[in-house]
Amino acid sequence: MLSTIYQYWRISLNPSRLKKLKLELEKRKLASVPKSIQIKDFCFPEQVSLIEDVARYRTACLPRRSGKTTMCAFDLIRSALARPNVVCLYITLARSNAKRLIWPMLLTICRDQKLGPKINETDLALTFANGSTIYCSGAKDRTEIEKFRGLALVNVYIDESQSFRDYLGELIDDVIAPALRDYNGKCTLTGTPGPIPKGYFYRATQSKAWSNHFWSGRANVFLEQKSGETFEKQLADELLRMGVTVDHPTIQREWFGQWRVDTDKAVFKYNADINDYHSLPLGKWNYVIGIDVGYEDSDAIAVLGWVDNSRVVYVVEEYVKSKQGVTELCEKVRELYNQYSPRCVVMDPGGGGRKIAAELGDRYSLPIESAEKTRKFEFIELLNDALRRGDLLAKATGQFAQDSQMVEWETPMVKLKNNFHSDITDAVLYGFRECLHWLEKPLPAKKSAAELIADDEATMELAALKRTKEERGVYEDEYDNYNDV
Ligand SMILES: Nc1ncnc2c1ncn2[C@@H]1O[C@H](COP(=O)(O)OP(=O)(O)O)[C@@H](O)[C@H]1O
Ligand SMILES: [Mg+2]
Repeated sequence: MLSTIYQYWRISLNPSRLKKLKLELEKRKLASVPKSIQIKDFCFPEQVSLIEDVARYRTACLPRRSGKTTMCAFDLIRSALARPNVVCLYITLARSNAKRLIWPMLLTICRDQKLGPKINETDLALTFANGSTIYCSGAKDRTEIEKFRGLALVNVYIDESQSFRDYLGELIDDVIAPALRDYNGKCTLTGTPGPIPKGYFYRATQSKAWSNHFWSGRANVFLEQKSGETFEKQLADELLRMGVTVDHPTIQREWFGQWRVDTDKAVFKYNADINDYHSLPLGKWNYVIGIDVGYEDSDAIAVLGWVDNSRVVYVVEEYVKSKQGVTELCEKVRELYNQYSPRCVVMDPGGGGRKIAAELGDRYSLPIESAEKTRKFEFIELLNDALRRGDLLAKATGQFAQDSQMVEWETPMVKLKNNFHSDITDAVLYGFRECLHWLEKPLPAKKSAAELIADDEATMELAALKRTKEERGVYEDEYDNYNDV
């Protein structure tokens, strides 16, 4: 039909006819796009119950491969088609994840259902014939949430929520919540339980203010259809591979979506009870600066310090910034260098670090040392020893305190898991190796009032003894011995 119109249009080119025909083509195109998709035809019942949940704030705390991202894709398309000229938003930690995971799913659904949206690869945006748009984006740190301000949103999914740091709260409270008001929009956090039940996502899954959904990996019937293997068979294989039983925390978290503490998986043995500090002690400080240069990730700088006669190292200052230029980074290093006069500045030679180190040396005359990267696991163990003993403390509200509880080992533990990347933990790791706190001789512990009184009594006794011995002329040796004790 369209080709017939086109033929007709070609042979009778006059401007007003041309305009009319264009309008007719637009109309037909719009009419040919389905007005909605029937979620029940595409999703399994647990996915449908979340999508149809009328609550404004919802969570889905689910195992891996349980259909979270696919559900986001179907629901976002459904809401974009249901109402003209609205904006739907998919946010995950990194834009590259959005591009790799949900973007191809959205394109496949649009192609299969002949939805024909305008595709904008640069912005990862799909605009439908009714004017509604779906944006896919990443928000890997606080600075990135600014780009979502001022939108009027009808449906927002934040996927892999367990990997977001505490700025997730700010994102929702300051940016998303006001944006939902125009259209009575919805916001859903999806994710898998993390190794430590902490953080905004954990709290939301336990809160009555959110409508919480849970299902086991068994619910995703599509996985069985695709793989040809039952959930039970895949689970049995995994238990065998890992050499564990079904109660193992990793299995409970990743196959059943249950929050279970799994201290072994945490790379850094940070324990808030022992390692948080709220204020810094007075004294003569020594400093070391550790720098992790990001290529795709953020740059991170950690200032570590300890006071004379103490073996406790403090993460005194943390600085993390994404997408900054070399000059900006060098200026920041120089500022911190002037402020702290560190004993040394140590920097990761990867990710362009070598070049920047040379720049800092040549242009800014700062002495930079290269961090030894090959023995990373040994250094992690050293740092963990200090954490366990309470010899490394970090600001309770700082990024190191948060991140060090989220970095996990792959199973088996020879590789860091790549679902969460922390820049600040690397900066602390590089700096910590250069700290010489372990050479300090701690001062004797301060004495209690009772001990001081006992000391006074001993001094009086000593004076009496001295007098007696003076009289005898033989006191000196014994007096010295007594004083040495
Ligand atoms: N409604 C669905 N229709 C078709 N396939 C689905 C559906 N839900 C999940 N799947 C399939 O299950 C697998 C895991 O889904 P995914 O959404 O990636 O899970 P998660 O995000 O929880 O890891 C994928 O192969 C996906 O295609
Ligand atoms: Mg997913």
